[in-house]
Amino acid sequence: MEKFIMICGYGGVAFELCKILLDNKNYITEKYNLDLKLKSIVGRHGQLYEEKGIDLEALLKFGKGSSAIEEYAKQKKLTLNTNIVFEGDVLVESTPTDLESGEPGLTYALKALDSGMNVVFASKGALVTNYKLISTKAANLGLKINYSGATAAALPTLDIGENSLSGARIKSIRGILNGTTNFILTEMFTNDINFEEALKNAQERGIAEKNPKLDISGFDSACKLLLIANKIFNKQYDISKVHIKGIDRLSDEDIHLVKANGQTIKLIATAEFDGKEVSMEVAPIPVSKTDMFSSVNGTNKCIAYNTFEMGQIFCAGGASDPMGAGAAVLKDIINLYK
Ligand SMILES: NC(=O)c1ccc[n+]([C@@H]2O[C@H](COP(=O)([O-])OP(=O)(O)OC[C@H]3O[C@@H](n4cnc5c(N)ncnc54)[C@H](OP(=O)(O)O)[C@@H]3O)[C@@H](O)[C@H]2O)c1
Repeated sequence: MEKFIMICGYGGVAFELCKILLDNKNYITEKYNLDLKLKSIVGRHGQLYEEKGIDLEALLKFGKGSSAIEEYAKQKKLTLNTNIVFEGDVLVESTPTDLESGEPGLTYALKALDSGMNVVFASKGALVTNYKLISTKAANLGLKINYSGATAAALPTLDIGENSLSGARIKSIRGILNGTTNFILTEMFTNDINFEEALKNAQERGIAEKNPKLDISGFDSACKLLLIANKIFNKQYDISKVHIKGIDRLSDEDIHLVKANGQTIKLIATAEFDGKEVSMEVAPIPVSKTDMFSSVNGTNKCIAYNTFEMGQIFCAGGASDPMGAGAAVLKDIINLYK
């Protein structure tokens, strides 16, 4: 089965996706009966378009970024489209995440849906700001939106709830969804250092951004939780529905007390379903040493589903780098055609 892919945003994730598409081409065809071809890539300054498919081997030699597309076009004597053509079976949205406007991903995703394309998101911005608009449009047009890569990269946060638990009713979902804050908390509790020192360590190792607000405030975890809960419980909530408390609001006294009790603290995202509505919260929570969450350390993440019929299912780990995210995007594409 031949399927054509269009990519918006050719950064680290899209580069890794292209590498996997090239390296695993035969495997994908044999295992899934899918012949995936990349027809176009939209960069910051225009669209690279090739009717019969872009030569991935040649493209990858130029590295990643909009400049790589421009170099490839120059070598092949092609001109970049400034009027973007939305054509193909699936759009991969991998531009930078903007949690205020949702752009540029929002415009790209809506245009792709209007052109009859399914959309696979690595970025979160459009979904967090405009979930209702995007999911309603997709449903009305009979199209699909998948976004594993946007909800903790390789950790199968959505797949478990969407596929593996089909025969059960889900009561609640709990997760450690942000690697940066988990690293900071692990440092604080295992190396007995304070928040400021732990944050500095994370920044020095490139784990935390210079401006770590999105992570330490709990907002990144809340965005992931919202997207997971909306898909699993078939809702269209917005971010205001999530109660958020970050690790930046932990007092020395809180920490002292938890340590004295032989516990540790984890930033836990929880969604509880009462059969009608879902309540969602992100908060630093004390966990005992016997809780499975206490063994999830460093930049690792995890998710646990609690069900009526199948009990509790717990999953931890998974690469949270561009290659892990690129592979998660490919999984979402493959799942569209299973
Ligand atoms: N990196 C990860 O491990 C990871 C994991 C999960 C999810 N994600 C999400 O996946 C998305 C992509 O991540 P990434 O690491 O690949 O980011 P990235 O390296 O910053 O790549 C983003 C790309 O988008 C391009 N771009 C910017 N504005 C654009 C526009 N208006 N139209 C088209 N392209 C535009 C950039 O162009 P220039 O090259 O000119 O800057 C860049 O090449 C992000 O939303 C990120 O949050 C990333």
